[in-house]
Amino acid sequence: MNAVDYCEGYTDEIYTKMRDDQARTEAYRKVIEKYCEGKVVVDIGTGSLALLAIMAAKGQKKKGGKKKRLQPFDSDLKKKKAKAAKVIAMEVNKQAFVSASEVIRQNNLSEKISLYQGYSNELEWPQNEKKSDIIVHEIIGEIASCEGVYYAVEDALNRFLTDSAFGRNKVVSIPYRVQTYLTVVEFPDVEYWQSLPSKFIMPAQELKSINLWNFPFRHFLCVPPAQRLGNEGDTVANGEPLFAKWEDIAFEKPIVLCDELNDFTFEITKTEGVLSGLLTFINVFVDKENTAPELNNHPLHNNTAWPNKLILFKDKISVKKGDVVVVSAKSMLNSKQPSYQFYVQKRV
Ligand SMILES: C[S@@+](CC[C@H](N)C(=O)[O-])C[C@H]1O[C@@H](n2cnc3c(N)ncnc32)[C@H](O)[C@@H]1O
Repeated sequence: MNAVDYCEGYTDEIYTKMRDDQARTEAYRKVIEKYCEGKVVVDIGTGSLALLAIMAAKGQKKKGGKKKRLQPFDSDLKKKKAKAAKVIAMEVNKQAFVSASEVIRQNNLSEKISLYQGYSNELEWPQNEKKSDIIVHEIIGEIASCEGVYYAVEDALNRFLTDSAFGRNKVVSIPYRVQTYLTVVEFPDVEYWQSLPSKFIMPAQELKSINLWNFPFRHFLCVPPAQRLGNEGDTVANGEPLFAKWEDIAFEKPIVLCDELNDFTFEITKTEGVLSGLLTFINVFVDKENTAPELNNHPLHNNTAWPNKLILFKDKISVKKGDVVVVSAKSMLNSKQPSYQFYVQKRV
């Protein structure tokens, strides 16, 4: 499936769920308010609610001004500071484009936000518009790069931004940086699938990958023992699954591409198990000034509604405590359809 087909899969229900993911929406709102005032903003993948475009375009509520109807994402309109000079919003999903035009019209923002239908890499910058100062986007997948964010943002940095957008301490992309981590896991048992609200019996295992929430702790294969933190007498940390950093993409020009073959070594800690795939989680650094990610979906302490991705291997491998497993991962991101190859080897 290419990225455009993938985008056509978004439904109103999904856009609403994303809007209602408080952590995600509020983190973006805060940073958009901080950096978009007075700017020409390009929103790549605005979705059916034009959520980020509207955040950027709406101004602070003026005293005595005309009362506007509040939208669910406008709960603290009074505190808003961001008022972009202009927003160029792009959306490839045809249905979402139609809905977004209507939402923009209902918000009386048709002059402030110009909406274009198409995949950003294939759209020309509108001739009558000034080039942009900053990109906002949320085209981040459960493998951070899997919705084509590298390809789209790299192109947008080159073609849509004005030269003066770049420079020391300038912010050209919200979010600023994304990371993907991975670890080795078993395929969840029947008990897990039956515990889900959707009452799965169990998915067909010829799937190549699946998105899921609340991955059960018992199926992590590499959980190094609890470690004593710092000095004698300090708290003993719980043993946590070992995740290796795989992708780390900072959206600045040029984006450093992580397309080399990376090797990750895991020592199995479970007495006996069946290695079936890799589980990923992502970190999203929305604000360039923050050293810690505002958003993450680590399976044990996530703060968003983002699911985790379970990437399934074609063949399963029996493993036992002490075995060493080497996972090699290769990413091909410079196209509309990012693709990945994984090689797994058990060292004996
Ligand atoms: C995860 S949704 C986010 C929607 C909205 N920005 C939000 O934050 O709620 C991603 C949206 O971007 C669109 N999209 C992804 N890549 C795109 C691209 N390169 N050009 C235009 N639209 C894109 C998808 O169709 C989808 O509507």
